[in-house]
Amino acid sequence: MTPAPFPAARMRRLRRTRALREMVQEQSLSAGDLIWPVFIRDGENIEEPIPSLPGVSRLSLDKLVVAAEHAHQLGIPAICLFPYTDQSLRTEDCREAWNPENLTNRAIRLLKSELPDLMVMTDIALDPYNANGHDGFVVNGGIVNDETVAALVKMGLAQAEAGADILGPSDMMDGRIGALRLALEAEGHRDVAILSYAAKFASGFYGPFRDAVGASGRLVGDKATYQINPANREEALACVARDLSEGADMVMVKPGMPYLDICRAVKDRFQRPTFAYQVSGEYAMLMAAVQNGWLDGEKVMLESLLSFKRAGCDGVLSYFAPQVAEALRRA
Ligand code: PBG
Repeated sequence: MTPAPFPAARMRRLRRTRALREMVQEQSLSAGDLIWPVFIRDGENIEEPIPSLPGVSRLSLDKLVVAAEHAHQLGIPAICLFPYTDQSLRTEDCREAWNPENLTNRAIRLLKSELPDLMVMTDIALDPYNANGHDGFVVNGGIVNDETVAALVKMGLAQAEAGADILGPSDMMDGRIGALRLALEAEGHRDVAILSYAAKFASGFYGPFRDAVGASGRLVGDKATYQINPANREEALACVARDLSEGADMVMVKPGMPYLDICRAVKDRFQRPTFAYQVSGEYAMLMAAVQNGWLDGEKVMLESLLSFKRAGCDGVLSYFAPQVAEALRRA
């Protein structure tokens, strides 16, 4: 339906007052749309700043509980854990990944006992445990798929056993969603949800994250043999279709802002719960400009997140989550 010609239609009529603008607002952002990614580390009473992610720190588990409680009180429904693994526990066989007592699994149990209503999401990939910094096993310089999937299943089962509500396979191996779903059903974890990093691109925007988990210096080569070429939209949609058919409950597009076209296409085509990850490089970019006084932090944070809703996303993983929830509460 096209609007009447001028002056019958004056688009500015409905922009005249704040109340009119609110009446016709199409999209909105709320704390309930957010998943907060958090970096954790060993130790006690530690908040270790990450220089390339201003305002973000690695938290020891006691600090994690305090931060998670704050997020929960602000109405954020879920938190996603990313471990900074001690260098001595990074090996070629990655066995720490499925250790029931590893940092992530201890954090899951602690959070579920202290804050049972807060949803705990995990990351499934070998990079925090791999001497090579890759998401899969490295054999003769290549990343082997099927052997990696078997390890990822062990890793995911250990997380489910610890009480994780949502598993987030971020590794981009083929067949992992089906293998994981089968194993979860077989082991009685029927209600553990999978939020698949289905359309995950081989992006330059992950840099600060790799600093945060201590993988930057280790990574040999790049992740182009398993993550999607940023030029490929149809391939991304095929990955989403595949993951949904294998038993993913929700799907993710990652990174976020440079891939809003993919978010819209995924929502339109599949009409399933769709999330985007506003990744570390996106956060760092905005924060760098804010710290220089070049951008208004609160404005761009809210505007950037609203863009995901407009693009069809049901929710967003963002390092801004607690700040956004606080800003929304003030508004
Ligand atoms: C690891 C993983 C990555 C991110 C989430 N899980 C990095 C990568 O694939 O290299 C990136 C998140 C971010 O940049 O904020 N599998």
